[in-house]
Amino acid sequence: MTTEVVVVAGARPNFMKVAPLLAALERSSVSHGLVHTGQHYDASMSDAFFRDLEMPAPRWHLGVGSASHAVQTARVMEAFEPVLVAERPRWVVVVGDVNSTLACALVASKMADIRVAHVEAGLRSNDWRMPEEVNRVLTDRLSHLLLTPSPDARDNLVREGIDPERIVFVGNVMIDSLLRLLPKARAMRLPATLGLEPGGYAVSTLHRPSNVDDPERLRLILGALGRLAARVPVLLPMHPRTRARVREFGLEALLEPLLVREPFGYLEMLALQEAAALVVTDSGGLQEESTVLGVPCLTIRESTERPVTVTVGTNTMVPWPPTENGVLEAALAALDRGRVALGSRAPDGWDGKASERIVEALSSR
Ligand code: UD1
Repeated sequence: MTTEVVVVAGARPNFMKVAPLLAALERSSVSHGLVHTGQHYDASMSDAFFRDLEMPAPRWHLGVGSASHAVQTARVMEAFEPVLVAERPRWVVVVGDVNSTLACALVASKMADIRVAHVEAGLRSNDWRMPEEVNRVLTDRLSHLLLTPSPDARDNLVREGIDPERIVFVGNVMIDSLLRLLPKARAMRLPATLGLEPGGYAVSTLHRPSNVDDPERLRLILGALGRLAARVPVLLPMHPRTRARVREFGLEALLEPLLVREPFGYLEMLALQEAAALVVTDSGGLQEESTVLGVPCLTIRESTERPVTVTVGTNTMVPWPPTENGVLEAALAALDRGRVALGSRAPDGWDGKASERIVEALSSR
């Protein structure tokens, strides 16, 4: 029997999106298989997520690893094509905006009878310097079915001339994982284990090239976090890219006021966000998770492709261009604003049922 749906994941932010989708495909008895491209491969960036999200092992592991954008994308394409030649699925489902997303969409789009579905379609930062923006726009252009997480996404796609017939609003599939696993995450009592008082600390993640590959930008952000630590403990789980840049730029001394850790697993990060007084990040996923958890978030980016997190009142964007004082003041203001009870303002379709709607959309076409 051939596989009807091939699902692709490659990097950390993909795993919490494909986990509920694989479970929903399984429940619907649709034959499916997972491809892991291997874009992320460290135990803390990949294996921990398979364990925490209770995911089946990938059927195909492409093992591409790290490289320049062009080489990484090309390696994924070369390794993915034979999978499709052998399986000839009806659908290839790609999620998010990482290099693996675009690489697999491009391969599938050139093969007769295979259709591409993009989960998290239509998000736009309108910042073409971000590799993710290039990946998003091109993946959407190549996809037959565009599955959107929020109303703004549809507007963006229609404005770009995408046929509205191909757009289906399904809501935010990442929130399916969050709602399912939050009780398990809470039961870990992680803040206490780390010596942190629930509601009395900030948690920060940084990994965008625009923030961490520029020595002056990285210096000012770490400087602001260090000064924030005079008010509340600041926990900084560090992405491997960020750790490498701190070493390369000789910024280790700026880490001293911070509680620096290795990247946390999915459950740990959920538990730590829920009990935090503040999230400071450049991650798209954390902007969304903190919104559902009602925790104030400060985003260190020029623009966000997730504007709904700002309009519901949990997320604020740092004044641009960022300065050390500007980041500190915005962080303190967000801290003082406190938690937000979303109630009925929770974004539509962020309800734990997006994966079912995705399977329905795939099955009905
Ligand atoms: C990628 C995604 C980004 C996503 C992020 C989450 C693209 C263009 N970017 O960025 O959208 O938000 O993942 O983490 O796809 N490294 C390791 N071990 C790993 C993975 C990476 O050491 O398991 C190091 C390597 O030095 C590598 C660097 O991190 O060169 C960057 O990894 P890469 O996958 O190219 O991009 P990310 O910055 O992780």
